[in-house]
Amino acid sequence: MTEKLLVTSALPYANGPLHMGHLAGAYLPADIYVRYKRLTGADVIYICGSDEHGVPITIRADTEGVSPRHIVDRYHAMLKEAFNALAFSFDNYSRTSLPLHAELSQEFFLKAHERGYITKHTTEQLYCPHCKRFLPDRYVEGTCPVCGKAGARGDQCEHCGNWYDAVKLTDPHCKICGETPEVRKTTHWYLDLRKFQKPLEAYLKSRKDWKENVVNFCSKMLERGLEERPITRDLDWGVPVPLPEGEGKVFYVWFDAPIGYISSTREWAEGKGKPDLWKEYWTDAERKLVHFIGKDNIVFHAIVWPAVLMAQWERLPQKEKDFEKELKGAYNLPYHIPANEFLNIQGRKLSTSQNWAIWAHEVVKTFDADFVRYYLSCILPETQDSNWDWDEFMVRVNQELVDILGNLINRTLTFVDKYFDGKIPQRGELGELDSWMLERMAKAPRLIGESLDHFRIREGLHRMMDLARAGNKFYNDKEPWRTRTEDPADCATTMNITCSVIAELCVVASPYLPFLAERTARMLGLGEEIAKLGWEEAGHFAVPPGTELGEVSMPFTKVEPEQVEEQKARLGKPPQENHREKAQDKQLKITKEKKVSGKENIPYEDFAKLDLRVATVKACEKVAGTDKLLKVTLSDGEGERTVVAGMAESYTPEEMMGKKVVLLANLEPRLMRGIVSEGMILAGSATIDGKEKIVLLTLDGDKPELPDGSDVD
Ligand code: MF3
Ligand code: ZN
Repeated sequence: MTEKLLVTSALPYANGPLHMGHLAGAYLPADIYVRYKRLTGADVIYICGSDEHGVPITIRADTEGVSPRHIVDRYHAMLKEAFNALAFSFDNYSRTSLPLHAELSQEFFLKAHERGYITKHTTEQLYCPHCKRFLPDRYVEGTCPVCGKAGARGDQCEHCGNWYDAVKLTDPHCKICGETPEVRKTTHWYLDLRKFQKPLEAYLKSRKDWKENVVNFCSKMLERGLEERPITRDLDWGVPVPLPEGEGKVFYVWFDAPIGYISSTREWAEGKGKPDLWKEYWTDAERKLVHFIGKDNIVFHAIVWPAVLMAQWERLPQKEKDFEKELKGAYNLPYHIPANEFLNIQGRKLSTSQNWAIWAHEVVKTFDADFVRYYLSCILPETQDSNWDWDEFMVRVNQELVDILGNLINRTLTFVDKYFDGKIPQRGELGELDSWMLERMAKAPRLIGESLDHFRIREGLHRMMDLARAGNKFYNDKEPWRTRTEDPADCATTMNITCSVIAELCVVASPYLPFLAERTARMLGLGEEIAKLGWEEAGHFAVPPGTELGEVSMPFTKVEPEQVEEQKARLGKPPQENHREKAQDKQLKITKEKKVSGKENIPYEDFAKLDLRVATVKACEKVAGTDKLLKVTLSDGEGERTVVAGMAESYTPEEMMGKKVVLLANLEPRLMRGIVSEGMILAGSATIDGKEKIVLLTLDGDKPELPDGSDVD
C-alpha cells in the first residue's frame, strides 16, 4: 500500500534571514526525508511558509522604525530565495499574512469557543508606563520562573524551553526601554488546556517511537499539570479576534502559526485547481502528519497544537486505545514530531543579534550548496546539540565528499571518456569482485532507507557514502588501468558496473546532494532515465551499454583554506548584507522625504491615474481668430478625438500631420473657442529670447512600431 504522508517544517519567522541553526533543526532533515519518500513512491507533500505574525516581527519593525508589513515582505522574499538556493523541495511555501490564513484561524478559534474550550478572563498583565503599552512575549525579559535563568522571554525560556505567563517572570523589564513594568488589567481569551490533560496523556502514550527529547519534555509538562493559557494579545499586528469584544486584540502567534500548515495546504490545493483536495491531506486517518521542528518548538507542537486540533473534534478521546484507530476526528493529529536539538557555531551558542551565525544566503555565494547540505547532514543535532566548525567543514567536504564521492565519479567518467570513446561499455562475464559489488549495490537502498525511515539522517548519509567507498574499493581492486590492455573485456565490465554504481548514487545521494545528483546523471548521459528510477530500483539498475556520456567535468572544486578563514573572520562582526539592507532602507526613507521638484512629491499611484497614450495626428488646422491655437484631430487607438493645442506659433498644421504624439487622454474635456478639447498633447516649453518656444513630445523619431493607444508610462 502506498504510504501517505504530509510533512512540514516549522514556519520560520519572517523577521530575519535563514541561518544554519534553522537548517539543522527543522529544515534540512525534512527536505532529505521528503526527497527520499518521494523516490520510494510514497504519496507525500511537503508544506511550509513564513510565520509573519507575533512579537518577533513587531519588535523588528519597531527597532527599524518601519511597518511590520515592510519587515515580513522583505524577509519572506529572502527566506524563499535562500530555500531555493539550497534546493528545498517544498510543494508549497506560503505565508501567514494571507487572508485565507486569517479566516481559517478565526474559524478554529470560534469552533473551540463554541465547544467550551476557550475561556475569558480579566487579569493583570505587564504594562510599560514609559512605552505606554502592554508587554506581551518578547517585549519583556526577566528570570525564568521554571529554571531560574536570566534573559528569559515573556512567553518562553530559550534555555529550558518552558512556556509560562509573563507575570510569573521575576525581575521583569521592558525589552524596548529597559523600564520595570507595572501590572494593569486587561481581558484575554484562554485555551483551557486542563480539559486536554487526559486526552493528551492518552495521545502521548499512544505514540510509541517518538524521540526521547520530545517524550521527556511532554511527560514533565503533563506531570506538572496543564493550565489555562492566554491565546490572545494586545497588539495590532496579527489575526484579529473575531468576537465583538475582541477589538484591538489579536491571536497569540503560537495559536495561529501551526494553523498555517493547514492554510498552506489549502493554498497548495487551490493552486492545483482542486480547492477541496487539502481535506484528504488533513483528515484521512491513514495519512501520517510529520512535523520537523527544533527543540524550542516542542511544547507548541506536541502539547498545544494537538489540543487546538482536538478542540475541532466532535468529542475528546480519553483513552490511549482511542488513538489506535483514530488520530483523527476533524483533523489528524501529528503522527511524528522529529525534533532536533540546537546547533552551535565554532563551539559557541548561535546568536543572531551578535551575528554569531552563518547565514544561508551568504554561504551559498562562496560554496556549492551541496557542500553546505553535506556538512550539515554530517553534524545534524539529532540526539544532542552539535557544532559547526569551519575547519571540520573543509576537511569533511574535501576528504569525504570530494575525495570519495567526487573522485569515484571523476575517475570513472574520465576513464570511459578517454578509453571507451565516451560510450559506456558492455558487461561481460562476472567475476567474484563484480558479484560483490552488485550485491552491495542491491542492498544499499534498503540500508539507507531504513535509516531515513527512522529519522536517522546522519546514519543514512554514512551508509550512502559507504556505497561510494565500496565503489572506489571495487575500482581499485579491479585495476581497470591494467586490464585495459591485459583483459579489455574485464575492463569493460568494471567500467559498466562502476557507472551503474554512480547511477545508483545519483538516486540514493539525491536527497542529500540534489545538485550533484543531477549534474552527474547528465554527465552519465542518463538524465532522463535516472530521473525515472525509484529508490529500490536504483539498486538493480544496469547502465545500458552504448550510452554516450554527456560533457564530463570535475564534479566539485575543493574548499580552500582562505575561504574558511574568511568565514571565520565574519563571525561576531556586523553582517555585511544587513548593513547594506539597512542602508538601503534608510536611503529609501531619505529619498522619499527629499523634494525632487519645486512641487510636492506625489505617490506613484497618483501618476498611475494619468491615461497617457500614443496617438497620431490625422488632421490639423488653425483655430480661426487666434494666433496660438491649433485644432488637432487624433487617432487614439479607440477612435478619433479633437484636442485644442496652443502650439501654432511653433508648428504649422502641415508639420503636425502624421506625427506620433503623447496624449493625456483622461483630462477633463474643456471648451476652448467653441471647440470641445478632449485631452492634452504633451510638449516641452520654454521662453527663449522673450519668445515662447514649444517642442512636441514625440516617440523616438516617430518609430512606427507602437500602435495608437499604446501605454505611455
Ligand atoms: N516561527 C516559529 C519559530 O521560528 C515556528 C513556528 S512553527 C508553526 O520558532 F508551527 F507554528 F508554524
Ligand atoms: Zn527556563
